[in-house]
Amino acid sequence: MQKKNLTLIYNLLFLAVCGGIFLFLYLAPPETTAPLPHDDDHRAFLTMKKKVAERQCEQCHAQDGEMPLPADHPPKYRCLFCHKQK
Ligand code: HEC
Ligand code: HEC
Repeated sequence: MQKKNLTLIYNLLFLAVCGGIFLFLYLAPPETTAPLPHDDDHRAFLTMKKKVAERQCEQCHAQDGEMPLPADHPPKYRCLFCHKQK
């Protein structure tokens, strides 16, 4: 096969892969994890650096706190990667 044709095929393959990745991301389900609530308990954390804020969640969300996490809660390392500061 001629070199030109091969280049064309490679380019088409590249485009197809890009399109596939785009579609995959575009069709991904919407995010469902609850964001950080906008109430008095959490307002201060909305603008804080993630690592600083996360040290204080346990004050209320520890097992014996006022709002313990549900028993089936996923691994809770880095709260704010999942519960967004929106
Ligand atoms: C002063 C106590 C307190 C602190 C500190 C605190 N929370 Fe909360 N949190 C609560 C209470 C009470 C609720 C339940 C009522 C509500 O939704 O505000 C709650 C609810 C939540 C919810 C559930 C929202 C929903 O829609 O169901 C998330 C997520 C959450 N907190 C994340 C965090 C994270 C992450 C931190 C640390 C950055 C944090 N909280 C720090 C008291 C606190
Ligand atoms: C790996 C992602 C992840 C991490 C990390 C994480 N969570 Fe969650 N959290 C979830 C999911 C998923 C739920 C299930 C309910 C939902 O969709 O909000 C949940 C539920 C909660 C709830 C109860 C919400 C309700 O409506 O009952 C609270 C409170 C909460 N998380 C706080 C925290 C705190 C505080 C931390 C850090 C110590 C943390 N989470 C870390 C994913 C995460």
